Amino acid sequence: MDIVTVHHLYKTFGRGEGVVHALRGIDLAIEKGKFTAVIGASGSGKTTLLNMIGGLDTPDEGEVVVDGVRLSGLKEKELAVFRRSKVGFIYQNFNLIPTLTVKENILFPLSLAGTTSDPDFFAESVKLLHLEDRLNAYPHELSGGGQQRVAIARALIAKPAILLADEPTGNLDTKSGQNVLGLLKLSVETYHQTLVMITHNLEIAQMADRVVRMEDGRIHG
Ligand SMILES: Nc1ncnc2c1ncn2[C@@H]1O[C@H](COP(=O)(O)OP(=O)(O)O)[C@@H](O)[C@H]1O
Ligand SMILES: [Mg+2]
Repeated sequence: MDIVTVHHLYKTFGRGEGVVHALRGIDLAIEKGKFTAVIGASGSGKTTLLNMIGGLDTPDEGEVVVDGVRLSGLKEKELAVFRRSKVGFIYQNFNLIPTLTVKENILFPLSLAGTTSDPDFFAESVKLLHLEDRLNAYPHELSGGGQQRVAIARALIAKPAILLADEPTGNLDTKSGQNVLGLLKLSVETYHQTLVMITHNLEIAQMADRVVRMEDGRIHG
């Protein structure tokens, strides 16, 4: 079953001399429960595509459907609800809230949505990501790898339809990057999470069920 379908997606930035055709007709289907890696040179349109799937940006043309929700035509408020309920984001720079503890950061998406966590799921995922002893710490007290593990727990907590990760190991050294990736892969397998991850690292891409290669706003292979 496909959890995401992208049809005929186009996106242009700027105009005139400075025009950039970031996406030039993307068709893509993402299978539920699978780990898809997106690779390609810098500027090939990877982040733009991920932002469209996550409802962070809107295409000029084409269509994105995520877990039965057609994004075109949604108002900004509806898109916010979509992102909150269907998407978990993991960024290169972690994007944690510095004034909140690890536990508060992880639970933050649920507090925004006005719901609470399933305590068993919280305890289990925190343990899986080796965070059970760091729940009262603040993000700056953790290593980069530790902070990214918090961001992964936060992305998982609402059991989103899809997890989107944009170069999640880009700010980590090789060893902690591998460690974080191993745990991310273990989490998505444990919870049958669909994961789409942008990476520059071909070794990481080889861990994926499928590799999508972007080139100049198009998908190759
Ligand atoms: N908000 C923006 N305004 C202008 N140009 C942009 C914007 N976002 C992306 N681009 C351009 O679109 C192209 C694709 O960018 P991006 O999707 O970030 O590529 P990638 O993630 O593969 O490095 C690049 O040429 C980039 O400079
Ligand atoms: Mg990018």
